[in-house]
Amino acid sequence: MSSTPAGDFSRKIRVSSLRDKKLQHQPITCLTAYDYPSARLVDQAEIDIILVGDSLAMTMLGYPDTLSVTMEEMLHHVRAVRRGVKHALLIADMPYGSYHLGSDEAIRNATRFVKEAGAEAVKVEGGEKRVDIIRPIIEAEIPVAGHIGLTPQSVNAMGGYKVQGKTLTDIEQLVRDAVALDRAGVACIFLEGMPREVAAMITSEVNAPTIGIGAGPECDGQVLVLHDILGLTFDPPAKFVRRYGDAAALISRAVENFRDDVHSREYPSDSESYHLPKDTQSALETLLERKRRIRR
Ligand code: KIV
Repeated sequence: MSSTPAGDFSRKIRVSSLRDKKLQHQPITCLTAYDYPSARLVDQAEIDIILVGDSLAMTMLGYPDTLSVTMEEMLHHVRAVRRGVKHALLIADMPYGSYHLGSDEAIRNATRFVKEAGAEAVKVEGGEKRVDIIRPIIEAEIPVAGHIGLTPQSVNAMGGYKVQGKTLTDIEQLVRDAVALDRAGVACIFLEGMPREVAAMITSEVNAPTIGIGAGPECDGQVLVLHDILGLTFDPPAKFVRRYGDAAALISRAVENFRDDVHSREYPSDSESYHLPKDTQSALETLLERKRRIRR
């Protein structure tokens, strides 16, 4: 198991830092990371929260949705991210099926993320109907992040990835969900895929910081999927995604250049090759010359 990360603890983001930021109206930043190098880079950029999202099912593992990713796969990625994070708060996503069978199973799986992978909090999708599962996890000393609105694990139940909270009935349910999570004592609430007016209302209604994705600018913080902002996904991006780079083009160009350089023998050059020490080289030449003379 990984221990608490070493380093400069004054910059360490904790669950309490998120509430402080909300109270001081300081925007909270959150990105996903799924492996060691990306975790290091995101952490070095002083992003507040690193989420090992179950979106890795699609971005890293090529599954069509988030439903089939397993606890073992999630643990593998959380461990790698843990090794790269010193300052950010590290949240692990509870995958589909890991908290649906009852609170004992949910506590067992949440505990695994903490003990076996070094997560500092777990994220659970769902509002009011999940509170009976979330409360025992919090009582087991594990901070929980809520997640309401367009919850990708409900894709089959929702009939697709649809913006939520468009009717008064749905808005009332979303507010009830947020208030129930807040009362249960969650560390923060992810608001995904809902009109900005609804997210703004929820944000002013709850004490827990809200982290929006496709939920407008009034949330206490914003989260995006790292591969989306890097342009490293293959489907057209959602409306709310802002691309800050084109890593796919960068990778493709580098790979094609390597291929061409090998084909044309441009790679490796002499300066990219190892050389024999001078005395070994002349001894080798003498030996080869002797062999040539014997053969003649
Ligand atoms: O899995 C994920 O990446 C998420 C965020 C987008 C909120 O749940």
